[in-house]
Amino acid sequence: MTSTPESSTDATTSGDGAVSEADSGVDVTLGNTLLSLRGVSKSFGPVQAIQNINLDIPAGKVTAVIGDNGAGKSTLIKTIAGIWTPSSGHIYWNGKEVHIHNPRESGELGIATVYQDLALCDNLDIVQNLYLGNEPTKFGVLDEIKMELSTVQILKDLAVTTVKSVRQLVGSLSGGQRQAVAVARAITRESKLVIMDEPTAALGVSQTAQVVNLIQTLASRGVAVIVISHNLTDVFEVADRIAVMYLGSLVSSGPIENYDTGSAVDLITTGTSSRVPPTLAPAQ
Ligand SMILES: Nc1ncnc2c1ncn2[C@@H]1O[C@H](COP(=O)(O)OP(=O)(O)OP(=O)(O)O)[C@@H](O)[C@H]1O
Ligand SMILES: [Mg+2]
Repeated sequence: MTSTPESSTDATTSGDGAVSEADSGVDVTLGNTLLSLRGVSKSFGPVQAIQNINLDIPAGKVTAVIGDNGAGKSTLIKTIAGIWTPSSGHIYWNGKEVHIHNPRESGELGIATVYQDLALCDNLDIVQNLYLGNEPTKFGVLDEIKMELSTVQILKDLAVTTVKSVRQLVGSLSGGQRQAVAVARAITRESKLVIMDEPTAALGVSQTAQVVNLIQTLASRGVAVIVISHNLTDVFEVADRIAVMYLGSLVSSGPIENYDTGSAVDLITTGTSSRVPPTLAPAQ
């Protein structure tokens, strides 16, 4: 049976997660919604890690999820990625309700998650990492030429110019280059949604710039991107939309233009801000 989200607005949620503009229809800033969460909660025994999350993720846009340590950001993306199943609530993919039980099922939908530790194999080269578990074959043998040519093309598309050879072992790459391989890997799977948890946390200035470029390139190809970041400079550089988590609740979300560093810091630290425009201010 198929059902659809009741409302596609995620303009703002209140502290208890109720959609404040629930009756006002579509959030015109959103456009093409790929993923919708409605009332999604996840608890671990007595710990309510996320509660009553209402959030829409559009295709072709970068949504930054921000919030303090323990606010529930990783739990939110792990719930989308199928590592956790929600304790309650509904998840919709292209308007159809889905039940994602494990990462394989999220992968089948077109969701790729790039975790901070990246889950790459250091002892394999770039081509092997890109196609691990997903290798094309020709006459029953691995199609090495196809894999190598597509790897070169994907890195070129992503404007990754610093990698010397696609046959270089991943263990010998820099942090930024490893991020690039992880993103490229998501692309070989023709992902529709790429989720990145703190992609620039361990990176230097130029590597960070490289990853920021990659994220923008992905979005410009129509991919929906969710980025978790503590770095507000990166967030304001790369994101089209912001979603702020506070103590397990989504306290505010909307287009980046409606926020500045001051209001983002207010929301991260207190869950509310007088500096957000009234239509986006969390309901009291
Ligand atoms: N597997 C788990 N078992 C029990 N509690 C958990 C589990 N995972 C997360 N939590 C709890 O859920 C809350 C949210 O954690 P989460 O990891 O989602 O926060 P976060 O926003 O990603 O924080 P950080 O910025 O530090 O990565 C925390 O209180 C955490 O202790
Ligand atoms: Mg986390």
